Amino acid sequence: MAAKVRSRFVCQHCGSSYAQWLGQCTQCKAWNSLVEEVVDRVEEKRGTPASVKGRSPKPVPITEIPAQDGPRIPLSDRELARVLGGGLVPGSMVLLGGEPGIGKSTLLLQTALRNAHLKTLYVSGEESEHQVKMRAERLEATNSGSTLAGGGNTCFVLTETNTQTIFKHIEALQPGLVVIDSVQTLHTAVLDASPGSVGQVRECTAELMRFAKTTGIPMVLIGHITKDGFIAGPKVLEHMVDCVLQFEGDRDHAYRLLRPLKNRFGSTNELGIYEMRGSGLAVVEDPSQVLLGRREERPSGVVVAATMEGMRPLLIEVQALVSSAVYGTPQRSSTGFDLRRLNMLLAVMEKRCGFRLGQKDVFLNLAGGFRVEEPAIDLAVVCAVLSSNADIAVPMDVCFAGEVGLTGEIRPVTRTEQRIAEAAKLGFARIFVPKGTKGITPTHGIQVVQVGQVSEVLGHLFG
Ligand code: TYD
Ligand code: MG
Repeated sequence: MAAKVRSRFVCQHCGSSYAQWLGQCTQCKAWNSLVEEVVDRVEEKRGTPASVKGRSPKPVPITEIPAQDGPRIPLSDRELARVLGGGLVPGSMVLLGGEPGIGKSTLLLQTALRNAHLKTLYVSGEESEHQVKMRAERLEATNSGSTLAGGGNTCFVLTETNTQTIFKHIEALQPGLVVIDSVQTLHTAVLDASPGSVGQVRECTAELMRFAKTTGIPMVLIGHITKDGFIAGPKVLEHMVDCVLQFEGDRDHAYRLLRPLKNRFGSTNELGIYEMRGSGLAVVEDPSQVLLGRREERPSGVVVAATMEGMRPLLIEVQALVSSAVYGTPQRSSTGFDLRRLNMLLAVMEKRCGFRLGQKDVFLNLAGGFRVEEPAIDLAVVCAVLSSNADIAVPMDVCFAGEVGLTGEIRPVTRTEQRIAEAAKLGFARIFVPKGTKGITPTHGIQVVQVGQVSEVLGHLFG
């Protein structure tokens, strides 16, 4: 085994470097800020494949550079392809982040299995070959019998965590796609730090990145994100990779959202929606339809909001329950909606509309485990709370889009037209939108009601 590459411990705050690890940087006094980094790459280069070694770029006139490296690689999973900006870009590096157990391995293994045109190397540092095989059989059970036919024989599994060895296997196999599950298990021989540490994760990603760029083989890295933030991983990688996809959703619910946080090759406004089934992740064809469920009638406290997720309109059920507080301090709890914003809306209802909610427990919930950040859902939240408070149901065929301001005014929202169109498509008869929304063309089958104040809406709904 060749001698170790020289490495140093560098403070991530002030850049001072040390020969050994210290708990505190003696220069800037920051704690726990030293990370091992490679200083001398000569040794490392000895282990790098020939294709990467002899590369020295020269200045090129911009007019002579082709617009794209080549055509994008199509994927059978159209949601994934769309979120990536229309397929995989050769030589690109994608980071798929998400909490453990959310379905990252499932998504990429099914991509490997279902794209027969793409020879895939699935590098698994977390699970054994048998575990990957068992998962593959589960995924394929409903697809084509349990024979792993079709894409099965273009998917190769490698249980290895040393990057230099992985590169050798890639060189030999020449796959069209490499999946690394997960970046936290990798280690490079050039650093002593243990796998999963900041130094290792960063150095391994840098090596993979150089490899992907020179060979043109696209790579997808899986990175775990824990609930209480980012432990040694995805955050430090975000600026290095070409594309960061976040896989999110509530583990107790079946729906999963695939959201691009960064994309050098496409828009970050896209959104992919999946449902976790017994046979893997299935694309949700018509999300609004699924989220609204098939109800005969809606009880009080349940209303529909016309929201946007990225570029996609999404109709979603907002549920509120208002009851007398049992204990001294009323409880406020919210799932899928910012609790501080709920408190603000309650204050607005109290002050501007004269509802006595101060002594009431208020619970709010968005259907399907979804989380909505955009303020256009405010009006639906207000109506759900008031509907539950008065115990009067809001008619089935009504939905809402509007931000509520501190004076109880309803403020304009983006893409009202698209929200109206989606509501009309799903058979709603009436939609409440902010007053002064411009350019609303009469849409067949739906009545658009423009409202300027929360109190006006109440007049319409509860008389
Ligand atoms: P997994 O892909 O292992 O998550 P991650 O790689 O993000 O940690 O998915 C884990 C969950 O998905 C697991 O709890 C079981 C569930 N699952 C299904 O419901 N159906 C399936 O077909 C598969 C393969 C997994
Ligand atoms: Mg996994």
